[in-house]
Amino acid sequence: MDSHPAVDALMSQMSLDEMIGQLSLLPAGEGLVTGAQQPTSLSRRLDAGQVGAIFGTKSLATVRAMQERALEGSRLGIPLFFAEDVIHGHRTIFPLGIAQACSWNMRLIQQCAAFAAAEAAAEGLHQVYAPMIDVTRDARWGRVAEGPGEDPHLASRIAEAMTRGFQGAGIGTPGRVAACLKHFVAYGAPDSGRDYDNASLAWEDLLETYLPPFAAGVKAGAASVMVAFNAVNKLPMHANGPLIEGWLRRGQSFEGLVVSDYTGVRELVAHGLGDAAICVARALHAGVDMDMVGEDYLRELPALLRDGLDAPDVGLAFTAQQLEALVRTSCRRVLTFKAQLGLLEDPYAGITDAPQAPARDKGRQLARRAAVRSAVLLKNDGLLPLPRKARVALIGPFAAARANMLGTWAVSGRAEDVVTLEEAVTAVSGRAPSVAWGANIVDEPWLRQRLNVHGVTVSDDPRDEAEVLAEAIRVAEGADVIIAAVGEAKEHAGESSSRLSPDLPASQCRLIEALARLGKPLLVVVFAGRPLAIGRLAEQANALLYAWHGGVAGPEGVADLIFGAAEPSGRLAISLPGHPGEVPLTYAAEPTGRPHPGRFAKFLTGWLDMPDDLPRFPFGFGLGYATVAYGAPTLSQHALPSTQAVELSVTVTNTGRRKAIETVQLYASDPVARVTRPGRKLIDFTQVTLAAGESRTLTFRLVADRFRYPLAPSLEAAEWVRDPGLIQLHVGPNSRDTQMVEVTWLS
Ligand code: BGC
Repeated sequence: MDSHPAVDALMSQMSLDEMIGQLSLLPAGEGLVTGAQQPTSLSRRLDAGQVGAIFGTKSLATVRAMQERALEGSRLGIPLFFAEDVIHGHRTIFPLGIAQACSWNMRLIQQCAAFAAAEAAAEGLHQVYAPMIDVTRDARWGRVAEGPGEDPHLASRIAEAMTRGFQGAGIGTPGRVAACLKHFVAYGAPDSGRDYDNASLAWEDLLETYLPPFAAGVKAGAASVMVAFNAVNKLPMHANGPLIEGWLRRGQSFEGLVVSDYTGVRELVAHGLGDAAICVARALHAGVDMDMVGEDYLRELPALLRDGLDAPDVGLAFTAQQLEALVRTSCRRVLTFKAQLGLLEDPYAGITDAPQAPARDKGRQLARRAAVRSAVLLKNDGLLPLPRKARVALIGPFAAARANMLGTWAVSGRAEDVVTLEEAVTAVSGRAPSVAWGANIVDEPWLRQRLNVHGVTVSDDPRDEAEVLAEAIRVAEGADVIIAAVGEAKEHAGESSSRLSPDLPASQCRLIEALARLGKPLLVVVFAGRPLAIGRLAEQANALLYAWHGGVAGPEGVADLIFGAAEPSGRLAISLPGHPGEVPLTYAAEPTGRPHPGRFAKFLTGWLDMPDDLPRFPFGFGLGYATVAYGAPTLSQHALPSTQAVELSVTVTNTGRRKAIETVQLYASDPVARVTRPGRKLIDFTQVTLAAGESRTLTFRLVADRFRYPLAPSLEAAEWVRDPGLIQLHVGPNSRDTQMVEVTWLS
């Protein structure tokens, strides 16, 4: 850790209680006074100098008031820093993380993070709890919405882009905020797909799939990390010294701040790791610097620093001096973070001099561009783009939705900022569609109630379903083309919103069935927070657009695509299951000894009860309005020493009549190795824009070391090895439809 004179000076004057206070991270909650003008528990903590930082303030005025109170309550005048969940935009909500990932456009993702940082900084915030970089392959897990999808390479690139977007030139840059990589680690691999559930996985998977985005974020300079709720291979992350102190701090030379997740320290008790005092000692020893919300550090550390801990029943003993040293180290990290933010020089840094929020209309333009780039066109039998003069019937429970378009974790977003699909279609085509509700979002009243936990976004049409459907059909019959707007409500995905069966709710499936029976041109637009099992939807629709929850301008982006004002270019950052029972699912699955031959065959890997003709949309898949042809890939050399790099070239040609934005993807497999390797793995990609008829030759440069992989009997004994020999390189428009060339590194 860098030494800061201001930090040294403070540390030499601080009492142990004051140091413990710095480790406490509290929510803004109801603020400084209750409705009855009594001090809240937060004010009491501030008056006692027992708060290091606050998250969840909603205005610059609140930040300033809390800072004033903290400075009065702190003998040495130590300021707070302020944090917030800024997951996919702050006031201006951009498409969900999973949606932005589908843009495969790092510049755009960085711009969205930078804009969010500017809005957050304008409210006096110093840190955001983002980027969320949990790789996941499980569509059941609700938090798939927030993250970068299923692939570690794509997720790593996103971790870098977002870290740079948030932090700019580095922590303390005016108008930017400190990033916090989360959730460390394997939070996206819960055993059952249920949120908070533990992860049991091979160390190799941890090292090769779940840790790389954190390594990339650290390398890009991320100033902080948040620990995940789950246990990884039996050891809960809030007590996981081998991963926090070992892999992260020693292995990656991470010198920043580690914060707990919400009451994560206390939850070690429920994990079965001992009483509160034991769990506090474990968390601190594991390297968790700040305790979010639970106040267990505040409660337990004074006695622990006086008496030490002797817990033979769990095999744990710390002297008071050992624990004091840990508190000193963590306190130093908190103060260093504050020093880097400029707060030790000026406690109102980023507050009294908070820059003006960037112009909202700039944010809207960016959000619209991001929505365009995030939506994935899965099928188009020639229906799209629609002529602007088409008479459109817009049917479905998302046709006029606002709040649901924001998606989950949009704490500072406002529903009134959303332009609905109905409004967007009218504005872009110059013609108002006829609109019908068509179906309730879900059938079950109890589920509706759960989905409305953060305010009503799922309403219920009290009429009979037959009547609602009849109305939709009447509206559809009077139109040239039907646009069905279906999917998930915002709280269908997100924290604690795991689904047993990640598919389109039954009520909406019945609507699509009824519409498809009419035989009219049918475009289905899916607004969702997760990759839904697509089932027969792709067959029923003439065109299928996967729009996710696209934020304030999500529907406008969709309208731009539908009427050809913009080109579809999104590519799936996560495979869409055909059937919900297929998950977890990844394009990178390891081959079995009895590989799936592409259709069901007895005694080979597959599903007995899954139809062979179910359409599949693999990772990397997406269409445009133009067609792009791939020439045969060529290599600069087919056999070479391991010290030399090889170049793979491929020519792509726009054979269509419109502009194409093509994401050329490069995968690799290692067919002869010491252990079973992923069937294929994304190793690089490039996005190019091609005018109609244009050809471009792209070159990827590869070194042998790129093909190292981990062997890990344990985390500590992990080594990265490379076998000399054959590597297969697959290039193409998605993870399935590729052409192969082979290269051999001789030694
Ligand atoms: C979530 C975190 C979030 C924190 C603070 C937790 O419940 O897991 O992602 O940053 O709350 O709001």
